[in-house]
Amino acid sequence: MAAQQDSPYAPDALIAADIDAYLEAHRNKTLLRFITCGSVDDGKSTLIGRLLYDSKQIFEDQLSALEADSKRVGTQGQAIDFALLVDGLAAEREQGITIDVAYRFFATPKRKFIVADTPGHEQYTRNMVTGASTADLAVILIDARKGVLTQTRRHSYLAQLIGIRSVVLAVNKMDLVGYDRAVFDAIVADYRAFAAGIGIADFVAIPISGLAGDNIAARSAATPWYDGPTLVDHLETVPVDAEADRAGPLRLPVQWVSRPNLDFRGFAGLIAGGTVKPGDAVRVLPSGRTSTVARIVTLDGDLPEAGAGQSVTLTLADEIDCSRGDVIAAAAAPPEVADQFEATIVWMADDALLPGRPYWLKLGTQTVTATVQPPKYQINVNTLEHLAAKTLELNAIGVANLSTDRPIVFAPYRDSRALGGFILIDKLTNATVAAGMLHFALRRSQNVHWQAIDVTRERRAALKNQKASVLWLTGLSGAGKSTIANLVDRKLTRMNRHAFLLDGDNVRHGLNRDLGFTDADRIENIRRVGEVAKLMTDAGLIVITAFISPFRAERQMVRDMMAPGSFIEVHVDTPLAEAEKRDVKGLYAKARSGQLKNFTGIDSPYEPPEAPDIRIDTTGMSAEAAADLIVDYLLAHE
Ligand code: ADX
Repeated sequence: MAAQQDSPYAPDALIAADIDAYLEAHRNKTLLRFITCGSVDDGKSTLIGRLLYDSKQIFEDQLSALEADSKRVGTQGQAIDFALLVDGLAAEREQGITIDVAYRFFATPKRKFIVADTPGHEQYTRNMVTGASTADLAVILIDARKGVLTQTRRHSYLAQLIGIRSVVLAVNKMDLVGYDRAVFDAIVADYRAFAAGIGIADFVAIPISGLAGDNIAARSAATPWYDGPTLVDHLETVPVDAEADRAGPLRLPVQWVSRPNLDFRGFAGLIAGGTVKPGDAVRVLPSGRTSTVARIVTLDGDLPEAGAGQSVTLTLADEIDCSRGDVIAAAAAPPEVADQFEATIVWMADDALLPGRPYWLKLGTQTVTATVQPPKYQINVNTLEHLAAKTLELNAIGVANLSTDRPIVFAPYRDSRALGGFILIDKLTNATVAAGMLHFALRRSQNVHWQAIDVTRERRAALKNQKASVLWLTGLSGAGKSTIANLVDRKLTRMNRHAFLLDGDNVRHGLNRDLGFTDADRIENIRRVGEVAKLMTDAGLIVITAFISPFRAERQMVRDMMAPGSFIEVHVDTPLAEAEKRDVKGLYAKARSGQLKNFTGIDSPYEPPEAPDIRIDTTGMSAEAAADLIVDYLLAHE
């Protein structure tokens, strides 16, 4: 492809693979990231095409193909249909790989730009949130003939939610309303009233025509009554976040520790906020240790100063512990550290949120395990009403409390996207399931501390001449878990071991009386049983549990709660047909006839262990033999 090398804009990139070369060529220009919100009907593709075209970011062979296409489809006398250009590129990109958001790159003599183009419909909320999460600015497109619509409100709400600081109201298709000032003014007034209500204090409104090019790159003679900037003028001069972020105190999330030899230890990362100079006093979070900055190292030599948006390696004057996930901050103004939060969550997966399920939570360079409580409410993105919700489905936005398994360094999202924005990842599939924004730490997380206890689990277990452990039996209803568990309990007791049996049916009569058999209730059932089993192992006991515990994620969660090597997973493996044939409690018959809903193996899933410590095939072994096997395993691992 031949680029237009003689252009003053020197375009050299259109596809993602060339981003680095492109950014390098425009290194000294600031970068503005923006998002366009609107639908094809509003003229979004035409506008983006126009921006790319006016900044000469179109390769010649694409241009000629475009002209040919435009002639073929006929475009109301226009030489080029810019919408065809953008849609064509999108189709090209979508081949083979799924790209949720199309990013395009262009530059003017003053600035370089990345524009995220996301579809406008409600079912694409997650795409818009993804594209908006790094944007400095949002262009909200309005069709001048239609005015402020539900989708305008939705896009504006999402832009505000995701922390976009600058909003442009682009009132498009002015040519189709005769460039009428009254139409423009009425739309702006209408939008202003709505915007104030959702916290958008200020915006810039521009009357444009993407098709005719009015007020895009050049002022239009057709709107003499408009004295504001053109769209390109505004995009070239509006402050970008990186500039604004320099104003706050230093925040450097450590991405990795560089240790090429024993004499050098540097902490590398992208500065998320503030500036730093050698000699500055810093504090490493969450440990709280302090030191001073010795050097700011980059590939091009040491720097006297660096700030938000720059990737650097810092060396410190003292040898203090600092690793990936820590945050180096201004000593006098450190960010908060907490493990329980309120947050807004945008659900992005086909499978709904499971309150209580452990997910990975990734916030900047920190990765921890997090569980989300049932939402306080869900937000209707069209009316902004708060609705009751038990979970969050695909594209739903809600507010919920969440807790992490260890404290994380954070800032409220409205103060710092880098330290307040997070994603949730499914631990089994590794798919990103949600994006979220932390509001604040729950006060209880700061006021409840661990009380040190002097007598250890080991000491208590030693008194009983045993090692504390958990024998976790999992399997279908009617697999034989309770029978085998009861035999194990008896055998251990005869051997003077101190064991205790927690059985599903029994625990559900007391501690877990309030729980049923939905996925969320089963997760909570296992969480509580896990916590009780943990307390019992802390008391030095051998705990035997008999629960269906159908999900891998929660069995893993309980394993992670216990001391290493003390969780023994036993799969009581009875085929469904066999369990159903036995049907000791008559529950399979009820489930088959539809009298019992959510029955495991019938209309509720069972995820068998992939690598259990012990597997028992009950079709080839008596309960007695199974119990012997388990006891032998336990004794061999003491
Ligand atoms: S778990 O899935 O949350 O681990 P748990 O082991 O506590 O289940 O309880 C399972 C027992 O509850 C079964 O053995 C059966 O007696 C009874 N039960 C009642 N309804 C159901 C159901 N819908 N699915 C499975 N078990 C049920």
